Amino acid sequence: MEKKASITIDGRPYPFDEGETILSVAKRNGIDIPTLCHLAKTTPTGACRICMVEVEKARTLMAACALPATDGMVVLTESPKVVKSRRMTLELLLSSGQHDCVTCTGAGECRLQELCMRYGVTGKKFAPTPPRYTPESENPFIMRNFAKCILCGRCVQACNDVQVNNAISFGYRGKKSKIVAAEDLPLKDSQCVFCGECVQACPTNALMYKNANLKIRPWEGEKVRTTCSYCGVGCQMWLHVLDNRIVKVTGVTGVGPNHGSLCVKGRFGYDFVGHPDRLTTPLIREGEGFREASWDEALDLVAKRLGNIRDTAGPDSIGVLTSARVTNEANYVVQKFARAVLKTNNVDHCARL
Ligand code: FES
Repeated sequence: MEKKASITIDGRPYPFDEGETILSVAKRNGIDIPTLCHLAKTTPTGACRICMVEVEKARTLMAACALPATDGMVVLTESPKVVKSRRMTLELLLSSGQHDCVTCTGAGECRLQELCMRYGVTGKKFAPTPPRYTPESENPFIMRNFAKCILCGRCVQACNDVQVNNAISFGYRGKKSKIVAAEDLPLKDSQCVFCGECVQACPTNALMYKNANLKIRPWEGEKVRTTCSYCGVGCQMWLHVLDNRIVKVTGVTGVGPNHGSLCVKGRFGYDFVGHPDRLTTPLIREGEGFREASWDEALDLVAKRLGNIRDTAGPDSIGVLTSARVTNEANYVVQKFARAVLKTNNVDHCARL
């Protein structure tokens, strides 16, 4: 049998498939090489240089996210040289903007902060760079704080490669570099569709959910997994719940059908759940108005009226409309009720086409 190609990582050999990067082989085998710019299922950009590893016979450190494994390669992931490089990279990233962790609402779920803790980097080596661009929050969904942007490009890949919206890209050059929408217009004036994929991909707090800002800290509340009810795709989402209120929605990564992605409705359209105008009790029409009723009274009335219509005007005088916003099971029960009880096949659904 032909021997499979393998690389040695931190002294142990690991077989790999052709085309796999060092990072991918390491990940698959539970070896943690830190990353910042790497975004799964997109082409590596090698922008952040935090995943640098020592490769035997190479003259410089190499980016594990971009370098394909080759047979016989020997790699060190946490050698003194590697750690020194990562520490310097983190110092430079911290000084590239205003990463004021004490007041930052992203503290606790910031990848940059996490790596600074891991490598003991305090950000005291270099002075922080004053902000070059004013924060933007001229839309109801996404806030952009350019002083916290490390230009890793994950948001650009999330927008262009994952969602294929092509709404944002790198703009300007050198010290003036900035992630821009259209010709550096506010997001609301660009072709951004506010799916929020960029916010979910941001490893710092440069992109924030506006509706959740200052409402919840990462370790507060509980996360409830659910299925989005806006359409029949069945996207998996996390509801971030505090004091019995949904304060944020994020996509569940690593599982289908959406693999972490959501649309604008799924991610931001949850206000209706706790809206004060929402009906909490059945209403029965009386004359020009409505009066509150109990469920028993309302259901009895509906059963009586539908029964009368079926018996006097015939079953086909009744039509039943269901909704994509309820579960398949609920829709099944509705059509069963229409066919078995009302005796009509007049059943339709807003997502039928
Ligand atoms: Fe490899 Fe950023 S994760 S260069």
